[in-house]
Amino acid sequence: GTAQIGVTGLAVMGRNLARNFARNGLTVALHNRTVSKTRALVDEFGAEGTFVPAESAEEFVAALERPRRLVIMVKAGAATDAVIEEFAPLLEEGDVIIDGGNAHFADTRRREKELRERGIHFVGVGISGGEEGALHGPSIMPGGSTESYASLGPLLERIAAKADDGTPCVAHIGPDGAGHFVKMVHNGIEYADMQLIAEAYHLLRSVAGYSPAKIAETFRTWNTGRLDSYLIDITAEVLAHTDADTGKPFVDIVADQAEQKGTGRWTVQIALDLGVPVSGIAEAVFARSLSGHAGLRDASQSLPGPTAAPLDEAEAARFADQVEQALYASKIVSYTQGFHQIQAGSEEYGWDIDLGSVASLWRAGCIIRAAFLDRIRAPYDARRDLPSLLSDKQFAEDIGAAQDDWRAVIAAAVGQGVPTPGFSAALAYYDALRARRLPAALTQGQRDFFGAHTYRRTDREGSFHTLWGGDRSEVAG
Ligand code: 6PG
Repeated sequence: GTAQIGVTGLAVMGRNLARNFARNGLTVALHNRTVSKTRALVDEFGAEGTFVPAESAEEFVAALERPRRLVIMVKAGAATDAVIEEFAPLLEEGDVIIDGGNAHFADTRRREKELRERGIHFVGVGISGGEEGALHGPSIMPGGSTESYASLGPLLERIAAKADDGTPCVAHIGPDGAGHFVKMVHNGIEYADMQLIAEAYHLLRSVAGYSPAKIAETFRTWNTGRLDSYLIDITAEVLAHTDADTGKPFVDIVADQAEQKGTGRWTVQIALDLGVPVSGIAEAVFARSLSGHAGLRDASQSLPGPTAAPLDEAEAARFADQVEQALYASKIVSYTQGFHQIQAGSEEYGWDIDLGSVASLWRAGCIIRAAFLDRIRAPYDARRDLPSLLSDKQFAEDIGAAQDDWRAVIAAAVGQGVPTPGFSAALAYYDALRARRLPAALTQGQRDFFGAHTYRRTDREGSFHTLWGGDRSEVAG
């Protein structure tokens, strides 16, 4: 075969990825279960590069140079296993199967292990950036063996987004499921970013009394500063859009029930298993789920709320500035939580993930791309075992400077009855970390009281139990 890479599964993501490879000078073998899709791609985009269309699995495999590199772009789940089973018997030792879907990292670990035993490399690759990213340059998070990356990495570097300094947004994340794990957390952070932006919008609308158009303008201004990011940019676009049918702001005619496909939920489920407090991400997932409970919301329409005086223009402008501070501070917290989760996953699974490199490859191409990522990269590059983003002096200073406004915004939200679960969870996390003593001591006392669960003391080693039902003397636990 002559093709350096093959793509099977030519729905929009697969098709755009194949075109991206071809546009960057690679010979690309194409395969799809329905052959007409393969033909359509060649008919429409054949002039963009060199494609080798294949009508059968055998033909596809034969079209690939060795070691073969074939990318699976099908819906994550059972379809992935089916495609692997279709191709694995046709492959030879050293060939590489790449899964570019949003797979659960545990599935990727399982598949990698099974295929490794058959002499085949399996690389789970997180790909972010949606359809546009797949075509023009996504952010790419490959797991799998170091050996497979040596053969695959240079190809991925060609098609990846490039950061402002020219660095391709791809790096070997770590073995087996590391790439899909990092993509999962990317999506968790994506949910949190989106929720925080949504809360900022809600506050500007309800507390400051701004129109969607005015909020779009506010976001555009924010986007010229430290909040500069893809998500803020598209938020302004969405808010400025008018519905053609009704002439109303688009945001007012969309049903207010947010959907999800599962990666945010996975992030939280895994965080619970790893014992990592990702409260901001969890609130973002719950906020979507709450919005979808139409019955619950209908039944609650008569619940009383506060009455509050509207702000005058100057107060509203001042409040908008405070919301920018609250958004920035909360964003620092959600990234702190997300990076903590990656660190914990890396330790649990022995992946040795370089967090600076993760921040670096999120700088362009992906949904959470932002100027901010460069600021995260720096402290991790300076100190690979940085305990937390909040232990970085610069972030600590930033959040310190924002905190008065952050608190004022949440106080206003509470006073006016506007829900800000993301902002509030972020602030609670911040304050809990700062606290010299937490009421967890009391929790331990309660556990010891009702279940003899024992506690440790601040003044000496060991585990203890108080005889609560007896003379309340202390014994070794
Ligand atoms: C990306 C996106 C992508 C997907 C979202 C949507 O990084 O390109 O994250 O993977 O479009 O995950 O997720 P929900 O449907 O769950 O909002």
